Amino acid sequence: MKWQAEAIWEQVAPELSRFTVEIFPEVDSTNSELMRRAKAGQLEPVLLVAEHQTAGRGRLGRTWHDEGGKRGAPSVLMFSLGLSICPQDWSGLSLAVGLSVAESLHPDLRLKWPNDLWWQERKLAGILIETMALAGDSGDGGQGGVGGAPNRARYAVIGIGINIQPRTREGLATAPAWLQELSPDINAATALQRIALNLVRTVQQFEQTGFVPFRARFSQRDALAGRLVNLSDGTEGRALGVDENGALTVQTAAGMVKITSSEISVRPQAAGASPTATSI
Ligand code: BTN
Repeated sequence: MKWQAEAIWEQVAPELSRFTVEIFPEVDSTNSELMRRAKAGQLEPVLLVAEHQTAGRGRLGRTWHDEGGKRGAPSVLMFSLGLSICPQDWSGLSLAVGLSVAESLHPDLRLKWPNDLWWQERKLAGILIETMALAGDSGDGGQGGVGGAPNRARYAVIGIGINIQPRTREGLATAPAWLQELSPDINAATALQRIALNLVRTVQQFEQTGFVPFRARFSQRDALAGRLVNLSDGTEGRALGVDENGALTVQTAAGMVKITSSEISVRPQAAGASPTATSI
């Protein structure tokens, strides 16, 4: 695969000092590698791409599998962006990241709160953000995700996996979507080139402004808006969009609830389903 590492570096380096791009044929996980480096004090901004991960990780402790290790173009684009940022409020970062990736790739991509890109009701891409407190901060050592307190500088590892070609179902109820369905001429390298600069700019803007300026654009692509959803804590309700902090608002039989925890997963019910509780 011909990665355009130098072209990406030329785009990004003027806006992000000490930035580097690295391509690994194989690594356990690009997120794990950058978190290890951060713990060892390597905090420079880096874009790390892997053609194959032996222990790719997803949200909620899941594995992220790729059928790599074969010859030819990777069927999944897998990379992590690591950099130090210090936003007033970390909430909504994963939504801004997903929006950035969707806008870089295709107008028809939708965002499924909090971390997935969808096309036609199927998952196309996932995002895993991990952070580590920087020296002098009393943070949690990187285990706590993106819900940090105001004014805390942290090293953020933003890991993204995007299906480029068809993949196996891997026990999923619905087969995943892949990018060449929407853009037949794209491959992992050209997709990365389209994403990288916009992603860095998005993270830098988020650091300055938080989620608020991204909210309206997120809403335009919100895959859950107006739909009946089941939450992993057993609650059922109707999703009513995200607030200025990126929290998902759900109308339930017990009233309006705001979901901020990335530990709660949300599933839309099939179109035409009716709620089992009182009307919501
Ligand atoms: C999810 O859908 O649960 C998130 C998937 C994130 C996968 C990417 S691939 C690159 C980076 N390295 C990892 O181990 N995970 C992320």
